[in-house]
Amino acid sequence: MKSALLVFATVLLLLVSFESAHSVTIYTSGKPGVFDFYLFVQQWIYSYCGSQTCIKSKEREAFTIHGLWPENNDGSYPSFCSGSSFNYNSISDLSTQLNYDWPSLTGPNTDFWTHEWSKHGTCSITGPITDIHDYFAAGIKLYDNYNITQALNSENIYPSDSETYNANDMFNAINTAFHAKPAMQCISGQLSTVAVCVDKNTLEAMDCPALSGWSCKGGISWPASD
Ligand SMILES: *[C@@H]1O[C@H](CO)[C@@H](O)[C@H](O)[C@H]1NC(C)=O
Repeated sequence: MKSALLVFATVLLLLVSFESAHSVTIYTSGKPGVFDFYLFVQQWIYSYCGSQTCIKSKEREAFTIHGLWPENNDGSYPSFCSGSSFNYNSISDLSTQLNYDWPSLTGPNTDFWTHEWSKHGTCSITGPITDIHDYFAAGIKLYDNYNITQALNSENIYPSDSETYNANDMFNAINTAFHAKPAMQCISGQLSTVAVCVDKNTLEAMDCPALSGWSCKGGISWPASD
């Protein structure tokens, strides 16, 4: 009787853990719309291109869009969700802005957009984003609304090959401008990437939670060339 109870309890426990493992799998394997917020990620071209080989003609003094990425508070994220595959014709009306604001710095733009759509865009179908056109249009709108260069400039922080800035001052300048705490990454002491966290329903900036892999401290530069 005792052992029968034990077997019963063990089976029950296995079932419960199987169920929770199963639901965790569903959660992270990529179901469109199942995530906490977006990371809207922009890179500073000169820092990015200082650490890899870029197409020279695409380099300029600017942040450009890397992507709009569904993200969870615990650092996990859905990717490669089911849904429609990349279709350039659906977004061709946005091509002028996409080529300028959301370029690949290392290869063909359409390859980059195909990757961003497949990996992140397919998981972003939720709230105001109903299709591929909405997804790329949202990226352009966020880029126009959350101008990092402008936010830094308004606190007298400008690209420079000689100045060093405190990462905190840059963080505070962006927080002041957007009323939302950003996340920053540095490469070799240079500000390389800024993420604005974005509410998945309103597409408005919100405070980023603490995110592992996103920190940038002390004296850093914001280079005016690569
Ligand atoms: C962002 O601000 C900078 C500095 O004012 C400006 O040169 C740039 O055109 C702006 N970008 C967008 C997308 O509005």
